[in-house]
Amino acid sequence: MIEKVKHLKDQIKAFTASSQHEIEEFRLRFISKKGELTDLFTELKNIPAEEKKKYGQLLNELKNTARDKFQRLVDQVDDTGKSPRNDIPDITLPPSAEEIGSVHPITSTRNKIVSIFEKIGFNISEGPEIEDDWHNFTALNFPPNHPAREMQDTFFIEKEPDIALRTHTSSVQVRIMERQQPPIRTLSPGRVFRNEAISARAHCVFHQVEGLYVDKHVSFVDLKQTIYHFVKEMFGKDTKIRFRPSYFPFTEPSAEVDISCNICKGKGCNICKHSGWVEIAGSGMVDPNVLKNCNIDPEEFTGFAFGMGIERITMLKYQISDLRLFTENDLRFLKQFRHTGF
Ligand code: PHE
Repeated sequence: MIEKVKHLKDQIKAFTASSQHEIEEFRLRFISKKGELTDLFTELKNIPAEEKKKYGQLLNELKNTARDKFQRLVDQVDDTGKSPRNDIPDITLPPSAEEIGSVHPITSTRNKIVSIFEKIGFNISEGPEIEDDWHNFTALNFPPNHPAREMQDTFFIEKEPDIALRTHTSSVQVRIMERQQPPIRTLSPGRVFRNEAISARAHCVFHQVEGLYVDKHVSFVDLKQTIYHFVKEMFGKDTKIRFRPSYFPFTEPSAEVDISCNICKGKGCNICKHSGWVEIAGSGMVDPNVLKNCNIDPEEFTGFAFGMGIERITMLKYQISDLRLFTENDLRFLKQFRHTGF
């Protein structure tokens, strides 16, 4: 009996399986009611009473060994019954592709705007987001009591009444004009800050691109043609453009630029408030006072400037109705811009 138990134990330990079929073979041989172990239990009958306990224990141990082994075999062989589960990975398999992110829609619009203007000779300039009163307001001809300087629009730095987060990137243009004589043809993209309640149409942090062209004989016609060129490149040949008289402290004359609503194609919708037109930019001829403040002779040089919100342009281009989507980092939103390039 002892011999038989030992022999069976060796067989159980040595058994290997690489398929469901072989596992089943193991089960039939060692575990099932008709298996060899059951035979041994039947033989217990013939053992003298005083030794029964000892043999009983031996057989129970053997039964447990067989069950443990069975479980291990099941764990090792996968569902297809082919390769062992916990084995070395199959290095011949093609790698699963890493998912790469996409360019944020604001970045891609910014890059598109930059590339349109670069092709017609504008260079790119950047400046600080924390600005002083001179570059953000005073040099730009803001009267001392102009409402835009007030607390509801501007984030001032505490205890430093002269320092604020820039409210527009026109401040960069002042910096450029201060250090460079015309010809100047520059584009200033960047983040700007205004103390506004966050809603579907407004945010306290947003992005702008402003353009400046100063040289001899620059006229309103140059401004119009530049804007025409930009709009057709950005929104397509059929987009209509109109200039509406407006006011900015730093330009004279000033105009706001509207384009035909590309969502309803001019028929009227919520985005264009049923007018068929949407505003995309502010613009105008640089006020002679601004040129003077920057040591450029307004008798010799003239210039035009324009500024637009990148969020606005992106919303119109991709028909996005809520500005907050840009900052929520919702992948369902961002993944839609995978193929916009840039
Ligand atoms: N700086 C203006 C703004 O932030 C835009 C603008 C730029 C208007 C240049 C006219 C000329 O709204």
